[in-house]
Amino acid sequence: MQDKINEIEQSIDKAVQDVKSSKTLQEIKMKFLGKTGTISALMKNMRDVPADERPKMGKLLNALREWCENKFDELENRIKNLELKKKYADEKIDVTLPGKKPEDGAIHPNTLVKRELISIFAGMGFEVFEGPEIENDYYNFTALNTPSDHPARDMQDTFYITEDLLLRTQTSAGQVRVMENKKPPIKILSPGKVYRSDDDATHSPMFTQMEGLVVDKGITLCDLKGMLDEFAKKIFGENIKTRLRPSYFPFTEPSVEVDVSCFECGGKGCRLCKGTGWIEVLGAGIVNRRVLEGCGIDPDIYSGFAFGMGVERIAMLKYGINNMKLLFEGDVRFLKQFKA
Ligand code: PHE
Repeated sequence: MQDKINEIEQSIDKAVQDVKSSKTLQEIKMKFLGKTGTISALMKNMRDVPADERPKMGKLLNALREWCENKFDELENRIKNLELKKKYADEKIDVTLPGKKPEDGAIHPNTLVKRELISIFAGMGFEVFEGPEIENDYYNFTALNTPSDHPARDMQDTFYITEDLLLRTQTSAGQVRVMENKKPPIKILSPGKVYRSDDDATHSPMFTQMEGLVVDKGITLCDLKGMLDEFAKKIFGENIKTRLRPSYFPFTEPSVEVDVSCFECGGKGCRLCKGTGWIEVLGAGIVNRRVLEGCGIDPDIYSGFAFGMGVERIAMLKYGINNMKLLFEGDVRFLKQFKA
């Protein structure tokens, strides 16, 4: 028996000689100490050993098992330590290496213009109000004096969600929400996304508008003109003039289209202004009495003006961008060219 034990001890020594990973060590350990391993088999054979020899044999076998267990424990510890050291070495970070600078983004020209507009109008006492992009037909059209059979609905190709819900085609929808909830004096600026089924070099199915609404006693077209003069000078330059041309919107009466003198040629006529010396920048007008009435504001006491402009259009004019698609591509090389 002692010979057999010596043999087992030797074969274990040999088996573990070159072991480098805990996984192979575990496999070898199972071969000797596992349920079906060599030592277990010897233990089972004890049944066949004559009774008087059993105590001696038991002692020998127990000593063998203990020897084995100690051996494997010790090896396990050693290998685990080595593995840990290797892991630390592999994961070592050189904190003295120079850092990688994250690529800078840029503020989108739309955002630049939006911020500039808000700051100009905030300086004149306007508050910002943001209405919902999904609107009821009522706020987008009916309450703005555009009932369902009104031909002016065709001015805007609307995306309908249901018969009654739509993607707002104009931030003017917010006017009614404001006037329903707030009594004059009202002075709000309402920026936001609007949607129309329209797509070419100067139109996009989604674009941004900036709406303004002022309601108080004695507001006239003169107030609108004065305020727009101020706005045009601030955004396009000191020498800019404005002019009003008659137009039509169902919710304003009278309605006007507002032009600014061409900042490219100073009004002499060039490619930008198509030789006219003027550039159209927004729609505006005196709030229609019917709209005020519908919001519970007495049109015999109060009056107001409203205006709405396309933010992309202002950005394109201000920065000389000739294709609206550039504003939606998000190319950082393009965006980086613009500064406030
Ligand atoms: N909502 C109009 C449009 O989208 C612009 C506008 C706003 C006109 C306010 C008059 C007053 O075309």
